[in-house]
Amino acid sequence: MFFGCLGAIKKHSQKEWTMTLIRAENLSKTFKIYQQGEGVKGYLKNFFKREYEEVKAVEDLNLEINEGEIVGYIGSNGAGKSTTVKMLTGILKPSEGEIEVNGRNPYEERKKNAMDIGVVFGQKTQLWWDLPVKESFRLLKEIYEVTDEDYDKRIEEFDEVLQLSEFWDQPVRKLSLGQKMRCELAAAFLHHPKIVYLDEPTIGLDIAVKERIRDFIRKMNREKDTTVMLTTHDMDDIEDLCERVVVLDGGKKIYDGQLDSLIDRFTSRRLVMDVKNPEEFKLTIEGVESVEKENGETEVVFNREKVSAADLMSEILQDYEVIDFKIKEPDIDSVVRKIYNEGL
Ligand SMILES: Nc1ncnc2c1ncn2[C@@H]1O[C@H](COP(=O)(O)OP(=O)(O)O)[C@@H](O)[C@H]1O
Ligand SMILES: [Mg+2]
Repeated sequence: MFFGCLGAIKKHSQKEWTMTLIRAENLSKTFKIYQQGEGVKGYLKNFFKREYEEVKAVEDLNLEINEGEIVGYIGSNGAGKSTTVKMLTGILKPSEGEIEVNGRNPYEERKKNAMDIGVVFGQKTQLWWDLPVKESFRLLKEIYEVTDEDYDKRIEEFDEVLQLSEFWDQPVRKLSLGQKMRCELAAAFLHHPKIVYLDEPTIGLDIAVKERIRDFIRKMNREKDTTVMLTTHDMDDIEDLCERVVVLDGGKKIYDGQLDSLIDRFTSRRLVMDVKNPEEFKLTIEGVESVEKENGETEVVFNREKVSAADLMSEILQDYEVIDFKIKEPDIDSVVRKIYNEGL
């Protein structure tokens, strides 16, 4: 009963969002890609008259993120997510539009902006490759002017969740991907920045490390009110951390709102089976949305809010012989496709 009550409380406590920390207005980024013609002729031709193609990586984006929010920024590959993050962090200059981050233009005031933000670009390390982890952090401490006292306290706190002690004395290049990402996370939050941009921080990691990283992000958001913009391909990251999501497709924003309103679009799970006699396979179970048979595989789409995979499986096993099966999670691409096809 008591736990039932707790379940009714929203995942994240409701707050009055007051201050807008990140604001982008009519933001666009166009890349020019120069065409290299074939052979010497092409080279010379290009040399005198450079021909290029334009790629609109981000187009007319309007975005406001308030203090304390964790916003999921999702979209298929090439949608323009990283380009947005690079503009917001001041790495790239916008082609058009305005950006204001904590009252500043991040590109014009890159150094000041850097003190307010933390960044993780998945797989691209920002730590010093040959230095032991602890030396890397010492350097960051100096760069961000963190006091000795704060530094010791924070490292100890971070260690509890991210378990940095495990590899504290090792050079960064010797760390596993999971260890490296735990370091990156700690490094991004070390100076208690107001905003942290995380671009695919969980890519390629196993579930245990992903969970550790999510715990850490949640803790920092709750305790320090850190604003987080999170780009990820992992729907579980989003469901775990974000109340609000922004969906980007082809450089344009196609959704901006509560995750709850999107959620039923991707609560469908797919159970893919190899059944002994697929032609006889039929199902009438509450929660099953469709049954499709293709290439010898039987695919059952079900709503996991109405029926659990375990219940579904045991029902099926009563009547059919299942040789093999797997459950497919919905992916970002299918969510984007659905929004695109069905509209909102
Ligand atoms: N430096 C660059 N030069 C040229 N094109 C780029 C550059 N960076 C990104 N792009 C292009 O811009 C588009 C958006 O890329 P990106 O922002 O990396 O997408 P995402 O992070 O959503 O996968 C893609 O078509 C990509 O090829
Ligand atoms: Mg990217």
